[in-house]
Amino acid sequence: MSITEQHKKLERNVTLLGAFAFVAVIIGGIVEIAPLFWIDNTIEKVDGVRPYTPLELAGRDIYIREGCYVCHSQMIRPFRDEVERYGHYSLAAESMYDHPFQWGSKRTGPDLARVGGRYSDEWHVQHLANPQSVVPESVMPQYGFLADADLTIGDPAARLTALSRVGVPYTAKDIEQARADLLAQADPEADAGDLAKRYPKAQIRDYDGKPARLTEMDALVAYLQMLGTLVDVNSAAAQEDLATETGR
Ligand code: HEC
Repeated sequence: MSITEQHKKLERNVTLLGAFAFVAVIIGGIVEIAPLFWIDNTIEKVDGVRPYTPLELAGRDIYIREGCYVCHSQMIRPFRDEVERYGHYSLAAESMYDHPFQWGSKRTGPDLARVGGRYSDEWHVQHLANPQSVVPESVMPQYGFLADADLTIGDPAARLTALSRVGVPYTAKDIEQARADLLAQADPEADAGDLAKRYPKAQIRDYDGKPARLTEMDALVAYLQMLGTLVDVNSAAAQEDLATETGR
């Protein structure tokens, strides 16, 4: 029987074709899945990456609620034009505690992965309230209402507990202190305790220019000002981590 004959037989016999297809899928599956059982971690550890503070997390929830991700990505690709415009390309570890991640797939506005520290808090408040007042040709909607909305605090401890169940390493103390941490981070007058120690590089201050009130604007700006600031991508240690991450 020629090879064409054999193939004809295979194609016309549903059971035989099914059996061969099954074997092909099994082999492909093993090749793709099996290695994952032998490597400890698919994401290299990078110094500086830490879970979000309760206030940053609240800001992140507002970011998601308002659909900011529809126009903004948070993933700088390793291409020269992106790196020159937005800064060092994103590392996998930088979004390892994001559930869900905010990489996005649409850039109507610029990438925000490293927007933290690029502008002042006042700039963000003004820009969010009225983007066209800072960038006249902007098509970004106005979010001034955030500055008038008291932040709904809810149950930050439950929020942290949920995240810790999916692998974010919040400690028992982080969870216990969640509510106090959230309030303290936006209030420079309050005693933040060891907040800055448990969350390195946490920025403690009033963000929206209204120290007496804790608004949604406070939380969102706290989140934006943290983005991309946790890892010192230029330090020697980070470079070493990078080398392992990129296999160079
Ligand atoms: C309809 C699309 C759209 C949506 C939705 C949107 N933006 Fe924008 N955003 C833009 C555009 C366009 C720009 C560039 C012009 C400007 O600065 O306003 C921008 C700029 C920005 C910048 C300045 C970035 C930089 O590097 O200069 C920040 C920060 C920002 N947006 C945050 C947000 C946040 C937070 C939200 C959600 C509350 C949001 N945006 C929602 C379109 C959008």
